[in-house]
Amino acid sequence: MLRRNDPCWCSSGEKWKKCHFPLLPPTEENSKEKTRSKTKPELSVKALYLKNFNILIKDEREIAGIRQAGHLAAQILDATCAKAKAGVTTQELNDYASKLHREAGAIAAPLHYGEPPFPKSICTSINEVICHGIPDQTKLIEGDIVNIDVTCILNGFYGDCSRMVVIGKTTPERQLVVDVAYECLMRSIAILKPGALLSDIGEVIESYAKSFKCSVVNQFVGHGVGVDFHENPQVAHYRNSMRLPLVAGMTFTIEPMINAGVRQGVIDELDKWTARTADGKPSAQWEHMLLITETGHEILTPWTR
Ligand code: MF3
Ligand code: CO
Ligand code: CO
Repeated sequence: MLRRNDPCWCSSGEKWKKCHFPLLPPTEENSKEKTRSKTKPELSVKALYLKNFNILIKDEREIAGIRQAGHLAAQILDATCAKAKAGVTTQELNDYASKLHREAGAIAAPLHYGEPPFPKSICTSINEVICHGIPDQTKLIEGDIVNIDVTCILNGFYGDCSRMVVIGKTTPERQLVVDVAYECLMRSIAILKPGALLSDIGEVIESYAKSFKCSVVNQFVGHGVGVDFHENPQVAHYRNSMRLPLVAGMTFTIEPMINAGVRQGVIDELDKWTARTADGKPSAQWEHMLLITETGHEILTPWTR
């Protein structure tokens, strides 16, 4: 938790209260010499976060829409993960997820996203693939660990989440990254509340991963989400100095990618998407979409492990 006299999160060297301190409702302390502000306090924080950080604080209507999209993404994810068994191709998982999107009146956000356009509706990332694996005719086999990442657009709002599936029994090294990545996600969610700092997330994740001699990917980050696929802020999963206080109405993902070996990834030269660990060792990722509430947080993508 950042205090008024602490150095500002932006590394200016100024005290936080003299620099990026959020506007607060008038109190005896902060309005001594000022005439009483007529601005509504929530509007002020919202305006300040938009102006200074390009972060969109959501209102009740937007939160309701984002929650619906998040719950749908989690349902599609759980249903698709239930089909992930030895002998099933990632293309079959893609087609099943695509059908579920259609039936729910939703759009799969990955399809045609980015440059070059992502060619499929979900991402399927097996073993040493860190993220952005493209579904194809590859059959899952006993011992594989696979991340399935679903992002849907429902009534214009985004729901984004992912989880791992272990196919049968796997190796200790693969199981380790699966379990450490899950703990990293859940432990970082547990600290979320207004006033916690964006940098606290990376601190929790990196210190936990390091205690198991695992590394944290720094090439890809979590992100603001809801009205758009990738909004501000970037949510780093590694140790960092973004001392930005979280405020109620923020919606973002946490999606740590944890490697058994080196943190570095290499992007496939041909497809320009598939990111693999540089040393070929396994990687795992779990993703939730979170809302900061007045009292803490809400998981907007309640998938089940
Ligand atoms: N769902 C991913 C995320 O968590 C993004 C996938 S981009 C895609 O941000 F184009 F590969 F789908
Ligand atoms: Co995401
Ligand atoms: Co995702």
